[in-house]
Amino acid sequence: KMPVILDCDTGSDDAFAIAMAIASDQLEVLGVSAVAGNLTLDRVVKNTRRTLSFTDPAVPFAAGAAGPLQRDLIETGRPIHMLFAGAKEERVPVDPRPAEDFLYDLIQKSEQPVTLIPLGPLTNIAKLLQKYPQCKENILRMVLMGGAAAGGNTTEFAEFNIYVDPEAADIVFRSGVPIVMCGIEVCRDGRVSVEDAERLEALQNEAAGYFAREMMQDFKNGESIIFDAVTVAWILRPEIITAQPAQVHIELRDQLRLGQTVCDFASDRPNALVAMHMQKEGFVQLILDLFAKYGG
Ligand code: BDR
Ligand code: CA
Repeated sequence: KMPVILDCDTGSDDAFAIAMAIASDQLEVLGVSAVAGNLTLDRVVKNTRRTLSFTDPAVPFAAGAAGPLQRDLIETGRPIHMLFAGAKEERVPVDPRPAEDFLYDLIQKSEQPVTLIPLGPLTNIAKLLQKYPQCKENILRMVLMGGAAAGGNTTEFAEFNIYVDPEAADIVFRSGVPIVMCGIEVCRDGRVSVEDAERLEALQNEAAGYFAREMMQDFKNGESIIFDAVTVAWILRPEIITAQPAQVHIELRDQLRLGQTVCDFASDRPNALVAMHMQKEGFVQLILDLFAKYGG
């Protein structure tokens, strides 16, 4: 099995990615860590523990940064809420260590190099790389949700996860660790419909039920984008996603373009593989196949 660790700001799409990774026979989830982003840290911790409570309460979990490296956490005003009312978060213990220590411990104990799956602002990951640069030796790659090849979703130029903590993103993109960037473009191909939620509900198991209800709440104009789950699709079904190598630079100086992931596809020194397009039906089928496993 391929060892993975997810770092997230849960968020229903983060929760999707966690549940899918845990369900997969090909992946071994070594741990999950929480970072402030979509919501304040205490609420991210609650949502993440709720997610683990019915997917696998034995997965090690720790909390990380309550805010970006050098900035205040932005108020997004986005309608992101507490997930899974009724789930028993107290079933999931919280490791007392800060995320960077927890992550380092998991990485260095792993027999095989680890794939990191960052799904929120990159604060915890930047702290890990700064405090324990030697951990890179046992990191195979990062498959992250963040950035955009063209326009942003938080400012005209920047995507949310990168915009929230651009200094952390800069550290990560300069780290030399191989990166697969699942940005806005490829995630937009992961739009799901009300019919998809009904197909999920029809699986009739507890996890599928929680997520189908969650999807129903997230619909705007009959569709919803499950951004973060695209990372797991990349790992499990790379054949449904196209990608191009690029030199990705994080804009830190120009305030208008702050947090933009400037992608130079012509560079001969790429630091990332930028995912571009995904076949939607293959994505939905993967989700259904994985959630079917919660039926026992
Ligand atoms: C990213 O921001 C968050 O809302 C989502 O969880 C995703 O990680 C999309 O820009
Ligand atoms: Ca997220």
